[in-house]
Amino acid sequence: MNKTGFIFDLDGVIVDTAKYHYLAWRKLANELGFEFTQEQNELFKGVSRKRCLEILLEIGNIKASQEQFSRWLVEKNEDYLSLIEEMDESEILPDVLKVLQFLKKHNMPIALGSASKNARPILEKVKLMDYFDVIVDGTHVAKAKPDPEVFLIAAKQLGVPPKDCVVFEDAVAGIEAANNAGMLSIGIGEEKVLSEAKFVFTNFTKMDDKFLNRLLE
Ligand code: BG6
Ligand code: MG
Repeated sequence: MNKTGFIFDLDGVIVDTAKYHYLAWRKLANELGFEFTQEQNELFKGVSRKRCLEILLEIGNIKASQEQFSRWLVEKNEDYLSLIEEMDESEILPDVLKVLQFLKKHNMPIALGSASKNARPILEKVKLMDYFDVIVDGTHVAKAKPDPEVFLIAAKQLGVPPKDCVVFEDAVAGIEAANNAGMLSIGIGEEKVLSEAKFVFTNFTKMDDKFLNRLLE
């Protein structure tokens, strides 16, 4: 398929931080007097912090002033940061390293394309910084996934045309963003959820060298 640029989402692809985001949002919801379920949390995947809070308040049917809204955003992030404080390499998802090392061995450039403003500290905690030639995160983009902006910036910085890039994503909005960017989308998760992806793997343990070689050839 002749691919020469590789872009990874972070949350849910490299590390399972979705559970920590969920706990922090649930705490806020409970404080505000309502429940927030795991199913509802699916809607938050790939979505910016601000948009998540808007959805949360819609679920709880709560109106907030600008000031309250900003305060809750800070509070959620502080709770999230304390949940990930102790995070280390053991939280890298299975066989992520195998794929990163395969790509490095073949001198392929690698980028991170994440909606999270916490992406850099997380990569540092799990000691993966050295694998990434380019990092584009929530501090660099104006338009959230499914807008292709985050991936187009990553491709540009890698110096690879979008059509030659591959995107690994666990979120529906992220797959759409990759498709909108004209890139090859690979879903990491459930096929029925990520049906718009070109290929879907439950996780990286299911992606063998044969498939990885096909991407390069
Ligand atoms: C995405 C997550 O990667 O980052 C979302 O899938 C999250 O759930 C978003 O809301 C923003 O993250 P952060 O760390 O900037 O609050
Ligand atoms: Mg994700």
